[in-house]
Amino acid sequence: MSLEILKYPDQRLKQESQPVVLFDDALRAFVDDLEETMRAGPGGVGIAAPQVGRFERIVIVDISAMRKLPAGSSCSGRMLLINPEITEWDGMVMGREGCMSVPDYTGNVIRAESIHFTACDEFGQSHAYACEGFEARAVQHEVDHLDGLLFLDRLVSRRTDLFRRKVYRKKD
Ligand code: NI
Repeated sequence: MSLEILKYPDQRLKQESQPVVLFDDALRAFVDDLEETMRAGPGGVGIAAPQVGRFERIVIVDISAMRKLPAGSSCSGRMLLINPEITEWDGMVMGREGCMSVPDYTGNVIRAESIHFTACDEFGQSHAYACEGFEARAVQHEVDHLDGLLFLDRLVSRRTDLFRRKVYRKKD
């Protein structure tokens, strides 16, 4: 079931999400719906549970349709990250981001170039990851959603770093 995406300036997007404590069938059913919602969106490379109004620390990132993964990356396409914790940040790089909750704009945001992080899978098993480049950017963007932050909050300047999308996509 595809879920409704909350759109900026919906104040609920500023809410902090809580850790998942119960790894049950209901959680796994929600993850399926969340993934379907991501795949239904235009160019969706990631989604976070609070974007559909569920304030738990769950994100899905899958850049495999957009970019080739660098050799040696421990991230293999689709990643389900529950209770993710970024533990190391290296380098800084500016890059363009979009968001299903901010459909009409993109923005230039500074992120760490590579990160290390841990997260649980849908059964509560913890895993360690390291990734870089566009994928590291996608993970940082989605983890921000769990803390109530949008890429709009990370712009150095709205005047120079915010761009209206050239192709306007009608939503709903
Ligand atoms: Ni987003």
